[in-house]
Amino acid sequence: MSLQNIHKEALIGSAALGFILVTGYYVGKRKSKLSRMSRKSHVGRKDDPVMHYLLNHSLREHPALKKLRLKSMEHQLNFIMVSCEQSQFMANLARLIKAKKAIEIGVYTGYNTLNIALALPGDGKIVACDVNEEFTNVGRPFWKEAGVEHKIDLRLQPAVKTLDELLAAGEAETFDFVFIDADKVNYDNYYEKSLQLVRKGGIIAIDNVLWSGKVVNPADGDEDTISIDKLNKKLHRDVRINLSMLTVGDGLTFAFKL
Ligand SMILES: C[S@@+](CC[C@H](N)C(=O)[O-])C[C@H]1O[C@@H](n2cnc3c(N)ncnc32)[C@H](O)[C@@H]1O
Ligand SMILES: *[C@@H]1O[C@H](CO)[C@@H](O)[C@H](O)[C@H]1NC(C)=O
Ligand SMILES: *[C@@H]1O[C@H](CO)[C@@H](O)[C@H](O)[C@H]1NC(C)=O
Repeated sequence: MSLQNIHKEALIGSAALGFILVTGYYVGKRKSKLSRMSRKSHVGRKDDPVMHYLLNHSLREHPALKKLRLKSMEHQLNFIMVSCEQSQFMANLARLIKAKKAIEIGVYTGYNTLNIALALPGDGKIVACDVNEEFTNVGRPFWKEAGVEHKIDLRLQPAVKTLDELLAAGEAETFDFVFIDADKVNYDNYYEKSLQLVRKGGIIAIDNVLWSGKVVNPADGDEDTISIDKLNKKLHRDVRINLSMLTVGDGLTFAFKL
């Protein structure tokens, strides 16, 4: 794999949201700047040498996945794409738990959807939920090129409706992995429905849980901030799960269903 584009393009797409794993560095040394960091600010992080190093030394993208990242970078809203190192970690996690059935809530151009689909066995499936066909159309050709289109069940309607349909179809407790990354006001709905849909030992990953640091002062925030903060507080005391919150991307929580 050629890495030469990574410092040019990946960093934009990579961790397009918020701060990153290695930014223990930033948290330690630039705490005061944390709250002012914009979600999009690390579009400007493409010059961060530590991030270059991290990506240069760990990213292993399927050729179609790389093409999709570069294609996504041409899109106006590229900063909403998942961080690629985060996506790779989630794909590795899906493999580790031998996931067969997954759900992506918020697909955008389908970078993570493709990464997870590649991690599933031939008869695995990922239910991909989004409302914007223009976004998902960017990804489709690359899903096909990677030979995993048959594993991706794209449902273009509000994600809550899709999750309700899965429950109504008797698919509760049958999913292994869920990634929640759509509209923030619905985060609690997505979490509760996902918790019903995953099996014991299944994993729910929730993106943007630090919301560029705004969750630190939720009272100053908008309804998105309040919704994320409420869910964070709820998860911390939720006895139905074990959890981890990480400073990768814009903050990522893993809920492990007990
Ligand atoms: C942050 S992006 C998802 C990024 C994606 N996970 C990736 O791998 O790059 C959020 C997506 O949620 C979608 N979305 C917003 N509201 C939604 C809803 N009510 N139901 C389903 N999808 C929604 C948007 O169209 C957008 O594509
Ligand atoms: C990352 O790789 C690019 C191209 O291969 C190289 O120019 C750059 O110096 C590398 N950066 C680091 C920090 O390794
Ligand atoms: C959940 O965490 C507790 C300790 O906090 C541990 O004893 C238990 O084994 C964990 N359960 C799973 C399924 O990981």
